[in-house]
Amino acid sequence: MNEHFVVRGAGPLEGAVDVVGAKNSVLKLMAAALLAEGRTTITNCPRILDVPLMGDVLRSLGCDVSVDGDVVVIDVPAELNPEADYRSVSRLRASVCVLGPLVARCRRAVVPLPGGDAIGSRPLDMHQAGLRLLGARSEISHGCVVAEADGPGVALRGAQIWLDFPSVGATENILMASVFAEGTTVIDNAAREPEIVDLVRMLQEMGAKISGGGTSTLTVHGGADLTPTTHRVIGDRIVGATWAFAAVMTGGDVTVRGVDPHHLDLVLDKLTQAGATTETVTPAPEAGNGAPAFRVRAGGRPRSVDWVTLPYPGFATDLQPMAIALSAVSDGTSMITENVFEGRFRFVEEMVRLGADARTDGHHAVVRGVERLSSAPVWASDIRAGAGLVLAGLVADGETEVWDVAHIDRGYPGFVENLTALGGDVHRVHAPPQR
Ligand code: UD1
Repeated sequence: MNEHFVVRGAGPLEGAVDVVGAKNSVLKLMAAALLAEGRTTITNCPRILDVPLMGDVLRSLGCDVSVDGDVVVIDVPAELNPEADYRSVSRLRASVCVLGPLVARCRRAVVPLPGGDAIGSRPLDMHQAGLRLLGARSEISHGCVVAEADGPGVALRGAQIWLDFPSVGATENILMASVFAEGTTVIDNAAREPEIVDLVRMLQEMGAKISGGGTSTLTVHGGADLTPTTHRVIGDRIVGATWAFAAVMTGGDVTVRGVDPHHLDLVLDKLTQAGATTETVTPAPEAGNGAPAFRVRAGGRPRSVDWVTLPYPGFATDLQPMAIALSAVSDGTSMITENVFEGRFRFVEEMVRLGADARTDGHHAVVRGVERLSSAPVWASDIRAGAGLVLAGLVADGETEVWDVAHIDRGYPGFVENLTALGGDVHRVHAPPQR
């Protein structure tokens, strides 16, 4: 379906918005369910396409999966099929996180490489290196990552693993592969993202003996028997932060519910430097899920600040487009440095079409703020770029068309509805191709 959003510059965004579970958590939690035979239930799941797509991946491995609103129920059989189906995997890059659980459960995994990506190259070398250190053989064969730890003299054994970079995906796969390994596994320079902590919590609930979640050193005492669990997904900090940026860009007043503000400490501090007032609020029990919330208020033109993307607790690369959109209308010049995904600056060319005074050089973008952007048709190359362009459209003169919004839908459940409820002028148009 070819759809686009029409965004009109409007006044300040005001009100409260509820954020549900994190996309980057739920998909890994669904994969973790593979580690225990029986029924796992995951709640607070976002209603986005990636969840049923991950359900298809798990079905191709032999599971029964039902998705009902924000609840996903996964029935895992005693015997799994260790070979993931290419058609399912190719539709969902994150499905590569079944690699670790399959190696753990079946001592063998064949997972098709998911293919190219708009935000830059996404190799799996660290995933494979970790699995090899655990005793598995791993190679790329016929378009698939193949990992095997069976046969004479081959077994998964605990190991000391240093990651070259705190990769989120490699940390998750190695962690899940190690839970049945003999002995102790130590993953150093591990990713510390809140979504990793969420995965560690779920694995602990299942009976895994893991310590160090949220630090750079994860220790796993392998061999525990895991049992299924019921787990609630943490709130999506990237979605929550997107609404915070929107509040600051429009000089609004927005309360974000369902996201732990501590997951956004750095972001909220930077938005304060940009001129906003931020505070943690305790919502009334009847509001949302009772999780902590935060409020962001701003008035007048934001001040320019510099942004540097880094692994957590650094500034998230997934928010880099929002930082560029904010910088585009800030008073002064901002430098944005991208250290995680080299392809992410493709989005800057679309911002220039909206009148941003921006240029890139290698890992850096320099943005000189202008008072107001000017509307144009633009293209969303990925989820976050799409959200950044809509935010820019909110502070542009005239009507901005944002195309390929299927990307946005994959990361932001109820995107248009949420923005509209806050007073934004955005609507979805179903139309034949225009380009
Ligand atoms: C996850 C998130 C993504 C987020 C990213 C960084 C999901 C579904 N996606 O992606 O939204 O932007 O974390 O916070 O959770 N790398 C290698 N070799 C490897 C693995 C990674 O070189 O084996 C590189 C990547 O190319 C990239 C960097 O490491 O430059 C970070 O990647 P990683 O943290 O693994 O990101 P993902 O898990 O793919």
